[in-house]
Amino acid sequence: MMILITGASGNAGRAVLDEVRKSGAEHRAMYRSEEEAKKAPAGTTAVIADFADKDGLRKALDRVETAFVVCSPIPQLVELETNVIEASREAGVKHIVLNSALGAGDYPKSFPSWHRAVEDKLRASGLGYTIFRPNSFMQNIPAFVAPSVRQQGAFYAAMDGARTSYLDLRDIGAVIAKALISPADHASQVYELNGPEAVTQAELAERISRACGRSVKFVDIPEEEQRKAMLQAGMPEWQVDALLDLQRYYTGGQGGGVDDVLERLLGRPPVMLDQFLAEFKNAFSSAA
Ligand SMILES: NC(=O)c1ccc[n+]([C@@H]2O[C@H](COP(=O)([O-])OP(=O)(O)OC[C@H]3O[C@@H](n4cnc5c(N)ncnc54)[C@H](OP(=O)(O)O)[C@@H]3O)[C@@H](O)[C@H]2O)c1
Repeated sequence: MMILITGASGNAGRAVLDEVRKSGAEHRAMYRSEEEAKKAPAGTTAVIADFADKDGLRKALDRVETAFVVCSPIPQLVELETNVIEASREAGVKHIVLNSALGAGDYPKSFPSWHRAVEDKLRASGLGYTIFRPNSFMQNIPAFVAPSVRQQGAFYAAMDGARTSYLDLRDIGAVIAKALISPADHASQVYELNGPEAVTQAELAERISRACGRSVKFVDIPEEEQRKAMLQAGMPEWQVDALLDLQRYYTGGQGGGVDDVLERLLGRPPVMLDQFLAEFKNAFSSAA
């Protein structure tokens, strides 16, 4: 049973590929460039294709029964992922496992609304499906919080006392791989994935401080100030709008849920935030 993993150069795709590869299941990883395809791990067959190119997709989907679909959080996501769903149907794929996002069920804005549009297309396609709606990745913390912690010992956002239920992308990869390997066990399921605990940004600062052994502060700032800083850092306006709209989902009281869905699917306890921060503590040190 051939499994295709798209987005194999990206964060989510890499985590899923890692788990599928470890399972020994027959699989193929899809990349957009030769350069990325060369990084495919041993035992993984690489294929090069773009979601915008039907011919390339046809080759990538040859003999595929189950496909993992993920795309960068860009405005073209709806069109690009829809192309993959259509090409999959034409190629005889039986089941798609879709990477969506928390909020796709109830937030008609920002990234969640784009993911919801794709979910609706997938559900209407007649293909078998499993949808994963993860909350915020723990990996966002070293990627987006650490740079200002390194430079200023502080991080800033208009998050007030909102809670986020962070989860480790490696745990997400593990449960998505299970659905790819045994799709019948997860058919027509929509899994909202939260972490094992939810923290405010001030609590996150305390946790980072403890992990790194030095004082790190969270500074709550007005949204307008955050917008200005993001634009000044060179972020395009659409992305600033989408990120701030998503942030309002959290400040509006969503995204702080904790439940046992992830643990149940994993069949073991998920990675805890303190464990994760201890592992990545060097990302916060000024020498990083
Ligand atoms: N960060 C979070 O906390 C979070 C939480 C929930 C959900 N999500 C969702 O998770 C998804 C994936 O996030 P990520 O961090 O894994 O993103 P990422 O690292 O940017 O990876 C996206 C992947 O999509 C590929 N891709 C982009 N355009 C493509 C195209 N035209 N054809 C084929 N492949 C294409 C990229 O390939 P290249 O390397 O060639 O560009 C890359 O492999 C996003 O949709 C996001 O909304 C994120």
